[in-house]
Amino acid sequence: SAQASGESGGSGAKASGAAGALAFDKDAYTELTTTITDAAGDEHEVKYHFYKALTYVTKPVDEKYQSLNVSVPVEIDGKAVDATDAPILLANSVGGYLPSSVAEATGVGGGEMTGGPGGATGGASAAPTASASASASASTSGGTGTGSGSGSGEVQSGGNAMVNGQGEMVNLGKLALVTGYVVVEPGARGRTLVDSDGTYYGTAPAAIVDLKAAVRYVRANKGRVPGDTDRIVSSGTSAGGALSALLGASGDSPLYDKYLKELGAADASDAIFASGDWCPITDLEHADMAYEWNWGANKLSSGSPVDRIVSRELSTAFADYQASLKLKAKGFGTVTARNLDEYLVKTYLEPSATKYLAALSDSARATYLAANTFITWSGGRATFSWADFLTHVGARKKDTPAFDAFDLSSGENNLFGTGTTKARHFTLYSLRHEGGTSARLAADLPAKLDLMNPMHFIEKRNPARSKHWWIRVGTKDSDTSLSVVGNLALGLENLGDDVDAFMYWDGGHGSNEDPADFMAWIAKVTG
Ligand code: DHB
Repeated sequence: SAQASGESGGSGAKASGAAGALAFDKDAYTELTTTITDAAGDEHEVKYHFYKALTYVTKPVDEKYQSLNVSVPVEIDGKAVDATDAPILLANSVGGYLPSSVAEATGVGGGEMTGGPGGATGGASAAPTASASASASASTSGGTGTGSGSGSGEVQSGGNAMVNGQGEMVNLGKLALVTGYVVVEPGARGRTLVDSDGTYYGTAPAAIVDLKAAVRYVRANKGRVPGDTDRIVSSGTSAGGALSALLGASGDSPLYDKYLKELGAADASDAIFASGDWCPITDLEHADMAYEWNWGANKLSSGSPVDRIVSRELSTAFADYQASLKLKAKGFGTVTARNLDEYLVKTYLEPSATKYLAALSDSARATYLAANTFITWSGGRATFSWADFLTHVGARKKDTPAFDAFDLSSGENNLFGTGTTKARHFTLYSLRHEGGTSARLAADLPAKLDLMNPMHFIEKRNPARSKHWWIRVGTKDSDTSLSVVGNLALGLENLGDDVDAFMYWDGGHGSNEDPADFMAWIAKVTG
């Protein structure tokens, strides 16, 4: 409740100003000291003020999720820090579109993705390698974002369970704090939450509505909450990256008003200044088509090929979608399904491999090139073909269709559930495969798909969107199509936004190999 948010004793309701009952009590903190290793590997002692489990709406459905933590650095290595006007990192810890709570955290960077009362059911459809590389090492090495269960087919990674190139955990909240930024960590409802009547209350668009409510809470408390509320930079990984991108793209859209009103969200802007998005699992209603366009030739890790007919039908349909975006890139003209592969190779994949190889010692590079003869290394640059790149990546993570599973078993089927219906189809292709050629999507779905898709707001040129973007994905991440990141970045570039997009060579799902660069980028764009 609003009272519970004031550790000093429920004075919030009396506070004046735009925040009203949601007023932030700046005296209600615990002072903590912790040692944080920065991205260069150096340890620092950080003294900070920790504000815990502040409920960010006046009519919460579930406070465990609809609350946030604020961490404000006051001393680093014995030197006073004034974070009054520092940028604010809004770090969500969503993974798998599951519920995420910070209510039990004992300090910065302690958010958890949980399976919720019903447990995380049906992750990626028939995902035979759901525990592959990045997410597995992340979930075994402790830290934040505990994986949800270990059953096959479960989405494993916590949203903020990022790993660097050395397989070590990366926690952006801690890194931001040691950099001198204010850190806001919001919880959010997720798809598996179900009440005693069997009603699902965390399905779409609950998570994005909650994150927007958290932003409104912070912005309504301008001058009360430490940090520059006009310089909110959001971050998230995977489903959390998708939500971070959506938060950036959909700023101040009236389409969410009725949901925000229902929760008693603060009457303030929910626009954010900048958006940091790692491996965003987004553009969900087009992701099955995109997946087959990208990974259609690749086998599953079991060695089984996927259904060739389904794969081909989906990748064929992708061409119409890609053309409809009317995206243009210098040197490529309109980026269609015909030149998208070349666009991705030249814009992302070769530069990614080049950077990776250039950083190696001569002997390590020679070893890598000997093991990967598809790469031509000449004049300090890597070149290769799309087809060889696909072979290099190897097994695809998901069966077809990758998102809207025919048997309704995917996490995304659950995300688009409603009421007491746990899971629904959200593409005509899968719906009609099951229900006949004249089946129609449920009446509420088209609007909900828009509410969950940053591409919708980019196509509408939403004026209050973030203008600064940091977008990253690993080149071996087959949780979704690489075109999802390519199109997100290009759509924003076509609008004239400042986009820093890059792919980590051979990086898996959840990789974050340049967290220090992200911190420096925040300083640059907010400065
Ligand atoms: C995540 C991964 C997926 O493969 C997916 O479909 C949705 C979410 C995740 O790691 O958050």
